[in-house]
Amino acid sequence: MTQIYMQTFGCQMNVADSNGLAHQAWSMGCTFVADPSLADIVILNTCAIREKAETRVYGRLGQLKVFKEARPDSKLLVCGCLAEKDREIMRSKAPWVDALLGPRDYRQFKQLLDRWGVATDSPPAGAIFTMPSAEDDPGQDLHQAYAHLRALVNITRGCEKFCTYCIVPYTRGPLESIDPEEIESQIRREVKAGAKEIMLLGQNVNSYLHGSGLDFAGLLRRIKSIEGVDRLTFLTSHPKDFDRCVVDALAELPNAAPRMHLPMQSGSNAVLEKMARLYTIEEYLEKVAYFRERLAGWALTTDIIVGYPTETEADFEKTLDVVSAGTFEQAFIFAYSPRAGTPAATMTPQVPQAEKIRRLQAVNAAQNEATRRFHESFIGDTVRVLTQGPSKKDAARMAGKTGHNVTVIYPRDERTEHRPFVDVAIDQAYNWGLSGIVA
Ligand code: 5AD
Ligand code: SF4
Repeated sequence: MTQIYMQTFGCQMNVADSNGLAHQAWSMGCTFVADPSLADIVILNTCAIREKAETRVYGRLGQLKVFKEARPDSKLLVCGCLAEKDREIMRSKAPWVDALLGPRDYRQFKQLLDRWGVATDSPPAGAIFTMPSAEDDPGQDLHQAYAHLRALVNITRGCEKFCTYCIVPYTRGPLESIDPEEIESQIRREVKAGAKEIMLLGQNVNSYLHGSGLDFAGLLRRIKSIEGVDRLTFLTSHPKDFDRCVVDALAELPNAAPRMHLPMQSGSNAVLEKMARLYTIEEYLEKVAYFRERLAGWALTTDIIVGYPTETEADFEKTLDVVSAGTFEQAFIFAYSPRAGTPAATMTPQVPQAEKIRRLQAVNAAQNEATRRFHESFIGDTVRVLTQGPSKKDAARMAGKTGHNVTVIYPRDERTEHRPFVDVAIDQAYNWGLSGIVA
């Protein structure tokens, strides 16, 4: 029986793709192992969004070379965005890789397994499909018991916005919207398999447009009647396409998780223009104001890039001002990382690395204050969390997520283990989240 080791880097899109690939391999009779030295086939699903992501993948490939040398007949497959971006370079940088499949090549996956002698064509008798862990994580066996509670459902693939910093349109190709029937039936399947939270996924879910004229707001209304979805959420949105219709549709949903991710990227119009983001900061904040008005109590999260080519101190301060005003409950802040082949990589002047780091730390400090205030507002409340599994740092405790997506840590015992939902009385707030006891 063919044993597969699979490790996933990068975004939720990659996690969803890995699940799909793993399911295909499983249906052909493969099983999964947590140790690459035991694997007949090693699969890395890779990310190319920033240089750091790439460095991690090449570092891992260096380690895996040793396993390959010990088992020369094992196979190493690299999938994902880096496989697409570094198709040529990888042959010289990591010649021990046996095959590359970019995100648009997954239709060839079964054929490849066939070529590698995997031909069982039926899952192991009596076995149920267990998802391999998303990351190489020593706690994965424990977490697998809870992985089915959250399901990722792709609604679009690709992106054609071509923000000037971004590699994704080159690696994932043009936008495609998946048929609503297929989306609905996947949601029903996941609910049947025990999912409590459904996350609709796309590089820009707001650009969903099906041939029949169905847009994202329409899709939300269409799936709202599916029974058994306790939490419905989605990732990620583009402020240009995120409009009042979507907010109105969200306000009608009985089960929407009260959170919204809306990447701002910068608070300066000059930088937003360089990024080709197609909105001004005033337009962005106007959309946020409508969102706050209609969806009171929701959490707003964002992505920000600092140190963009041409970003001046005054530009940067505009970003800092928006964050300091407490606009976001949480923000993911990145130093600009040039991606070869994208327009921003050759814009001048580039911001020196040390300056990028200074700006990154300043925005992070401002956001931490806002995040902490948000977390402190829960002290004394009882919150319902969806179980993630035993805490990675402390096996005597469990971790779960609130509807706002805040991490909560609480004691691990018979009242909290193997439960999808737990009500926790919050007594402590931290930058990273909350802790409490069973209510
Ligand atoms: N450098 C830094 N951050 C980037 N992102 C995308 N491309 C880059 C880049 N070249 C960030 C954006 C995006 C998030 C997923 O990653 O903020 O929203
Ligand atoms: Fe996901 Fe983008 Fe990384 Fe590809 S490059 S894995 S789409 S974050």
